[in-house]
Amino acid sequence: MKARMQASLDPLAVTALAVREHAHAPYSKFLVGAALEDSDGRVHTGCNVENATYGLTVCAERVAVFKAISEGVKSRHFRRMAIAADAPSMTPPCGACRQILWEFCGDIEILLVNPGGETETIRMRDLFPRPFDDSFL
Ligand code: THU
Repeated sequence: MKARMQASLDPLAVTALAVREHAHAPYSKFLVGAALEDSDGRVHTGCNVENATYGLTVCAERVAVFKAISEGVKSRHFRRMAIAADAPSMTPPCGACRQILWEFCGDIEILLVNPGGETETIRMRDLFPRPFDDSFL
């Protein structure tokens, strides 16, 4: 779907934009926020947390998923995730996050939002069409 400006922004996108402000990104200066809605309507947030080693950086999306799981939400009990990145273009989750999102959330809706409030929705199966998952184990 093409990016579009909404008259009133989806509250999940508003939350992702807000948590983006918490990003710890002194190296890339690329702030990302994620808001994950579970099957009960609760929202779990995450931002990217960087590290001087670079490689130990954790993306916003994975922080949100792992926070939710650690708070007791069961795997696959999620509805959708909003992701707010730091660029005018619609910025999709990285490959590592797609693998994790598929494992814990399956074919949820992903709502991308830029700092200007433009949004695009896409489903996980379209972002990650041929996943490796537990069906191969
Ligand atoms: N980043 C995310 O938080 N999510 C993504 O899906 C893409 C990248 C973060 C990692 C790093 O802190 C910064 O953005 C630049 O790559």
